Amino acid sequence: MSLTKDFPRADLSHLPTPLELLKNVSAEFGARVWIKRDDCTGLAFGGNKSRQLEFYIGQALQQGADTLLTTGAVQSNHVRMTVAAARKMNLEVEVQLEHRVDREQPEYHHSGNPYLVKLMGAKIHYYPVGEDEAGADQALEDRAAELAREGHKAYVIPLSNAHTPYGALGYVDGAEELMGQLREMQIEPASFIVPTGSASTHCGFLLGVRACGSKAPVHGVCVRRDSSSQQQRVSTKLQAVIETIGLPIEIPDSDIICDDSMLAPGYGLPGSATIAAIRYLARTEGILLDPTYSGKAFAVLLEMLKRGDFKAEDQVVFLHTGGAASLFAYPELVENE
Ligand SMILES: Cc1ncc(COP(=O)(O)O)c(C=O)c1O
Repeated sequence: MSLTKDFPRADLSHLPTPLELLKNVSAEFGARVWIKRDDCTGLAFGGNKSRQLEFYIGQALQQGADTLLTTGAVQSNHVRMTVAAARKMNLEVEVQLEHRVDREQPEYHHSGNPYLVKLMGAKIHYYPVGEDEAGADQALEDRAAELAREGHKAYVIPLSNAHTPYGALGYVDGAEELMGQLREMQIEPASFIVPTGSASTHCGFLLGVRACGSKAPVHGVCVRRDSSSQQQRVSTKLQAVIETIGLPIEIPDSDIICDDSMLAPGYGLPGSATIAAIRYLARTEGILLDPTYSGKAFAVLLEMLKRGDFKAEDQVVFLHTGGAASLFAYPELVENE
């Protein structure tokens, strides 16, 4: 079964990504903890965004676009991977970096993702506000109009929930891939843990898992908004994806779990539990998380394991969405110990 087979798609990722047992973590806590390595999708350090970009760029190519436009935070992995995808598909690319995180450290502005964006030669615009999705999208549309006047055809990969979330199709597909791997290994998952930001990953994943017949909770970990705003966002996007695919399935709001316990001090700012979780996984398994997304999601999983939320026979799956390129922008992860 592939729910997304009728949509245009660009081949950008190394798929399927591995599903691995975290042996040392499992030995410490009892439950069997699996990790879906979507940090290994390839494409300039990999990450969840390459699955999403396959569908955006599939549509861009179908429409005959010659330029990609997108927006994100200064340390956005999405921006970095959009630039890499554009280069791979021989498209021009312009990105807009938003002032979303108050960090003065030079590493935040010059190392990690923005360094790689410059290395890949994207044209960079700056947007002075961090919490204005509609405005940020409009600025992209304005730039697309300018490019049209110069004879180009730009494809905008937007940010806000007002647009058809083609990117979420990547995670409907990603969940189908994972469910196939679990079936083959005869693993009945008790729970999934995923980060939830723009919500494309969360809603696509939840839809894919339910369409494959699993009723296991999909635990979304908020990285940008509190749980009630994020729940609404996932719900809206989920309905839009269900309509886009034309699937006869109903997923009630009560099935959308958004946990904001690791959100503080805010988007792009790791709290002490997140820093501890990043250090822990690096030191027990040699796996690199990031301070904005996967580190917060793993920190929630660690709390659940420590609290004894899972029984010894439970199989838990953590979706590693990548992001480690931004580690270089956060020197505090190895300082002040
Ligand atoms: C590494 C990483 N994980 C998770 C997310 C969140 O994914 P989504 O925006 O689909 O909710 C992002 C988004 O930028 C990301 O870069």
